[in-house]
Amino acid sequence: MGMYAPPKVMTNDDFAKIVDTSDEWITQMTGIKERHIAEPDVSTSDLAAEAAGRALDDAGVAVEDVDMILVATATPDMFFPSTACLVQSKIGAVNAFAYDMGAGCSGFIYGLTIARQFVTTGFVKTALVIGAENLTKFMDLTDRNTCVLFGDGAGAAVITPGDAPDGMMHQVLGSDGRLGSLLEFPAGGSRMPTTVETVQERLHYIKMQGRKVYVNAVKAMGDSVVRVIDEAGLTGDDVDILFPHQANIRIIQSVAERAGMPMEKVYVNIDRYGNTSAASIPIAMAEAIREGRLERGMLVGMVAFGAGFTWGALLVRF
Ligand code: ACO
Repeated sequence: MGMYAPPKVMTNDDFAKIVDTSDEWITQMTGIKERHIAEPDVSTSDLAAEAAGRALDDAGVAVEDVDMILVATATPDMFFPSTACLVQSKIGAVNAFAYDMGAGCSGFIYGLTIARQFVTTGFVKTALVIGAENLTKFMDLTDRNTCVLFGDGAGAAVITPGDAPDGMMHQVLGSDGRLGSLLEFPAGGSRMPTTVETVQERLHYIKMQGRKVYVNAVKAMGDSVVRVIDEAGLTGDDVDILFPHQANIRIIQSVAERAGMPMEKVYVNIDRYGNTSAASIPIAMAEAIREGRLERGMLVGMVAFGAGFTWGALLVRF
């Protein structure tokens, strides 16, 4: 695994100079203290390529051996070519096929599950699954409800065939498109193409009904983690470390409680990264490896919720 976050950091106090907010409010309500911000000329594929290179180094895999590149992102460089094809070009993975996948903040869990199917059938031997986001370019700096929540970064995993009981064990995925309008990016697509009016009305930014998203996230992430552990015939005690999507510390605490896991077994880095959407889980896992908290043989849980709505949970013998 590998991760990359751009060097520039923005603190809560920096935001308090731009919008009517405070370090105290943001910390208490979300757990976020600071987040990384990509420079204007740094795109999602730049972040993804850095993370991918680090993951390949970590795995000891040559870039020519990568068969598949899957980028989970809600903030692609452009409509087309896909961010995955741009990453392919940047890292020189000339033997891979590449495409993007959109499942909001659940993108990394969806991506791992998709890659697993390709690897299990034998069609792919080496898959690179990347969660990468450049969300701060889409934050409305006049909207305190959303602008303080997000950060930029990327995380990547190399997936290869292995022998059970190692590897991906069990997963749960779900979606509910009926609730999609609670968290959306309204304009710029085919439904509302870009016009002077859409720009003036600030419709090219993330729009969110925070309270409703919060309630749905707590329920779906809690239900998913309980279900994935139950269906695998395990209990929360069996899971060595849980990587929840880093959206809000209060959501994470309630998911840990539902999973029957103490917070010591739950990885948290939201204080330093904010919500990096599809990148949050692989960034957390790569950090945990570096810190010696995630080691070979551990039973790892992941759980996420995001725009769509989408959700998912995954158990891996690492
Ligand atoms: N600073 C100060 N005050 C603020 C800020 C801010 N940055 N943002 C909102 N407020 C104010 C509101 O204006 C409101 O004031 P009012 O009562 O005078 O109208 C008050 O705080 C309460 O606002 P709510 O939106 O009702 O607050 P809530 O308790 O829901 O907390 C929060 C807001 C933290 C955004 C929460 O709803 C949340 O975390 N939701 C989940 C959002 C999320 O993570 N989305 C990301 C994508 S999905 C995912 O990743 C899971």
